[in-house]
Amino acid sequence: MHFLLCTVAALVALTSALPTAPNHSHVIHEKRNSLPAKWAKRSRMDSTAILPVRIGLKQRNVDRAHEYLDSVSNPTSKSYGKHWSIEDVRNTFAPNDESRDTVLQWLSQNGVSTVKNEGALHTLEFDMSVAEAERLLKTEYFVYEHDGSGTAHVACEEYSVPEHVSDHINIITPTLHFDVKPSQHLQRRDIPNPADPLTGSHPYHEEYQGPTTPTKAGDDDNSDSMQTCLDAITPDCLRSLYNIPEPTSSPSSDNSFGVVEYSPNTYNGDDLDQFFTSFTKFDKGARPDLVSVNDGTLDDSDPSSFELHGESNLDFQYAMGLTNPQKVTLYQIGGNTMTASDADFIKTKVVSTSWGFNEKDLTPMYMETLCNEYMKLGLQGISILFSTADHGVAGNTETCDNNDRFQPDFPASCPYVTAVGATMLDASATDIAGTLSSGGQPEVAIDSNVISGGGFSDVFAMPDYQQDVVAKFLKDSPPSYSGDQFNNSGNARGLPDISLNGHGYAVIVGGKQQAVDGTSASTPAFAAMITLINEERLAAGKGTVGFLNPVLYQYADKYVKDVTSGRNPGCGTDGFEAVEGWDPVTGLGTPDYVGLRDVFMGLD
Ligand SMILES: *[C@@H]1O[C@H](CO)[C@@H](O)[C@H](O)[C@H]1NC(C)=O
Ligand SMILES: *[C@@H]1O[C@H](CO)[C@@H](O)[C@H](O)[C@H]1NC(C)=O
Repeated sequence: MHFLLCTVAALVALTSALPTAPNHSHVIHEKRNSLPAKWAKRSRMDSTAILPVRIGLKQRNVDRAHEYLDSVSNPTSKSYGKHWSIEDVRNTFAPNDESRDTVLQWLSQNGVSTVKNEGALHTLEFDMSVAEAERLLKTEYFVYEHDGSGTAHVACEEYSVPEHVSDHINIITPTLHFDVKPSQHLQRRDIPNPADPLTGSHPYHEEYQGPTTPTKAGDDDNSDSMQTCLDAITPDCLRSLYNIPEPTSSPSSDNSFGVVEYSPNTYNGDDLDQFFTSFTKFDKGARPDLVSVNDGTLDDSDPSSFELHGESNLDFQYAMGLTNPQKVTLYQIGGNTMTASDADFIKTKVVSTSWGFNEKDLTPMYMETLCNEYMKLGLQGISILFSTADHGVAGNTETCDNNDRFQPDFPASCPYVTAVGATMLDASATDIAGTLSSGGQPEVAIDSNVISGGGFSDVFAMPDYQQDVVAKFLKDSPPSYSGDQFNNSGNARGLPDISLNGHGYAVIVGGKQQAVDGTSASTPAFAAMITLINEERLAAGKGTVGFLNPVLYQYADKYVKDVTSGRNPGCGTDGFEAVEGWDPVTGLGTPDYVGLRDVFMGLD
């Protein structure tokens, strides 16, 4: 077993003698009712170990988040497209002085005198021994171990702060947030479908079994070549299915596109080259620009490992395969704990993340905090896309506990991101090209190898932009499950927002073509479409599209092909049903590039 926190043990401790703190009554600030799936409590944490404590200060104006974001992303708003500068964002949400002073005073009374206050300006940072943190927060730290991988994590299950401080703080880490990326899980070899309790959405994969001569770019786009998309989805298949154009050869320097990966999973350069040679028209050699976050690094130690390269190779082969020569940025997240303010490393205009959590494994305060960070990125004109996981209503895990309650996926359930589900070509389709040319839908909800994640949030309320269509779904196709199984309040955020093909993507890993399935595949593909739309808007002197959802919902009739067949079973149930209109399996349906591009080009 190895402690994730040992990397910070060398940091300087604040070990001044503790003065006696005045006797304020403490209140429980956050409490966990259950451990995340597969984690077990082990020993008490060594009291002399040093914790990197982060205190998020309460931010001003977050109660107006929806209003602000709506004003720049709702096409009926006068300020549509008038995105905020980073300074506007900081000034609007910066904690007030009273909050900062109250918390600093409390810390100083407890012997903490050196506090860093950087980054997004709302986090106080300092180091403290476990014993000191236990006194400060009236808690006990334990080591928790992940069943199977042996990954260790240091956490507590509740913590308290003085009542007068509680109103001024958001979340404190490390406490009960199992938000450390569980890197070791990805190295398991014996499990064919490495769905992971914390960062699910690992794509399903198997050795490619289809014909050995996949369609190459430049082949005639005739009906025969469309039929090969049943064997393997390639960039050409996606272009044909969704009317995606070839990218421009000289993208605007203002355009940008990023993909988030969690170490040790990283792309392998040789595999990218082999993919580009086999499936695209551009030369090998293109690589993402690396932005290392929390010391994330590339890892070439085991080139043939799907666990090490599967997700990243998939993401970059398609993100780049559909947009090159657009530069794509890799945000490689390393092994240290993340705080909820850590979304501010994102600078690209579009960002795709195919990783997620079950809502119930996180705390509501943590999710709300992180979701608000995505809101701030949306205000700045950034489109955030998350996959909805691969086990239907069971979310990231194949089994459900907690009385078989469905498990919505976060961050997809945050109303300020675009949640992407998955579809597949109907296996019985005999004339895909014909169906497409007559405006038909050749796709159904994916239920082969993986199942599209979807459902209703237990944390986030239904945003305005989806109210009409979700209400219609609940009224016309009422699910036969009780409130014990899903949030049937009629006021919960529904997901996904939209879906794309996620079945049988041709991906090169370890020099071999694999067939890869998942919302992990559909998400970078949709993000690539948005990047190409941004390119067209920039070329026309317009801004980037930013937060997508108000437009996606308002103009669905202009660009969506409905998916009306399939379900997303899980938790011992048949899940929800894909029906006419929005549904919690495939969202609005699949997008047509030209239709969506025209919608966005028609907006200021
Ligand atoms: C603080 O409060 C606790 C519990 O009410 C009490 O046991 C303790 O003696 C008090 N300490 C001081 C310094 O007043
Ligand atoms: C359902 O969603 C609403 C709105 O977000 C929320 O207030 C409520 O707590 C949720 N109910 C359950 C049982 O999760």
